[in-house]
Amino acid sequence: MKIYTYPSEVLRKVAKEVDLSNEEEKKEVLETISKMKKTMYESKGVGLAAPQVGISKRFFVIDIDSKLEKDEEGNIKEVKEGKFRVYINPQIIEKEGKSKGEEGCLSVPGVYEEVNRFEKIKLKYYDINLEEKEELVDGFLAIAIQHENDHLDGKLFIDRLPTVKRTVVKKRYLKENA
Ligand code: CO
Repeated sequence: MKIYTYPSEVLRKVAKEVDLSNEEEKKEVLETISKMKKTMYESKGVGLAAPQVGISKRFFVIDIDSKLEKDEEGNIKEVKEGKFRVYINPQIIEKEGKSKGEEGCLSVPGVYEEVNRFEKIKLKYYDINLEEKEELVDGFLAIAIQHENDHLDGKLFIDRLPTVKRTVVKKRYLKENA
């Protein structure tokens, strides 16, 4: 699967909800998720949202527990699955507290910056079995969910940087990736 990178247009669209009453669409989404899973591990990412693979729909996958297997020289050999999580039509319904951590994104390769996020979130979503779930989440998973959920709204983590920093980071990225 191709991963679209900044400044691709598809990353800027507000994605559409998955129509869970449409059998054909459900099937397509589940097939896409299994491809995204493979792509995420191959790319050594901890999350991947549908718009990043060119699909403007509201779902993403996350695995913050994956382990990197290294060879004798310390090079990454493969990524071992940890806990694979699927979020379809997610909705963050409550948020509180403040949190900050360094983030990166497969769609903005080479850029790692600290971003302000909420510490705790409550969200509703449909899981891989298309069952409705409600969860209270904190820590790194809460940050990852907020990062991926932003993708569904056409937002990237670099958009959340303070103005001056944002301008510098975007300019440098576009120059290096021209
Ligand atoms: Co991202």
